Amino acid sequence: MLEVTDLNVFYGGIHALKGVNLKVKEGTVVTLIGANGAGKSTTLRSIAGLVRPRSGSIKFAGEDLSTTPTHQIIQRGIGISPEGRHVFPNLTVLENLEMGAYHRTPEQLRDGLDWVYSLFPRLEERRRQLAGTLSGGEQQMLAVGRALMSRPKLVLLDEPSLGLAPLVVEEVFRTVQTINQQGATILLVEQNAMAALFVADYAYVLETGRITLEGVGRELLQDQRVRKAYLGEYSG
Ligand SMILES: Nc1ncnc2c1ncn2[C@@H]1O[C@H](COP(=O)(O)OP(=O)(O)OP(=O)(O)O)[C@@H](O)[C@H]1O
Ligand SMILES: [Mg+2]
Repeated sequence: MLEVTDLNVFYGGIHALKGVNLKVKEGTVVTLIGANGAGKSTTLRSIAGLVRPRSGSIKFAGEDLSTTPTHQIIQRGIGISPEGRHVFPNLTVLENLEMGAYHRTPEQLRDGLDWVYSLFPRLEERRRQLAGTLSGGEQQMLAVGRALMSRPKLVLLDEPSLGLAPLVVEEVFRTVQTINQQGATILLVEQNAMAALFVADYAYVLETGRITLEGVGRELLQDQRVRKAYLGEYSG
């Protein structure tokens, strides 16, 4: 479904992605893990067209996206939930969700809302509340929900569990699995490597702009290098 080949991204003089290769098969959950600054968000932003690679290709369902504008990338079936939530604080929950379905017909909007409210009943209860007054966990649900409003085939999730309490983190990962079971393919960026590897069919480890390791999620959980670098507190 998605094929990223030899991607090179620069921010001015900083070479953030140094020849990244990755593939996401339809119907799977793929995770990208790595330390702070490794280039995880940059990879997702490149796929969504929010930063442009200097070289390399990004193919989605066989079509090259490397010069496609973001709004067209979304229309082709990619949804992104960015790092740090970025909900519109002075809009209501419902208005935020509507922003995620900007180009959709009223029927598609209704369909998107039905889906998001079935996944996150809390958002339906709070639909008239200003997003800025939601709790951190609720804002995260809203950011994920907004990405789903366009009924994407591929969902890019950037650290959906960041800053959430353990019980809420569990709920986030369960929801990721539910979204996948309901037909969406998922590329998940996470600091919570253990949980991410546990739910992922396939995983990539990114280190300072390069993929250094890849494999089946639960197999990487057993890998000594991964355990040492990313599961420190769990490996004893
Ligand atoms: N807009 C920018 N301008 C300049 N440098 C940037 C910009 N965005 C990211 N970088 C740099 O690119 C590198 C990769 O950043 P990126 O945000 O992709 O990392 P990350 O793996 O998502 O990290 P984190 O886990 O902390 O979110 C870092 O060195 C970062 O400082
Ligand atoms: Mg990041």
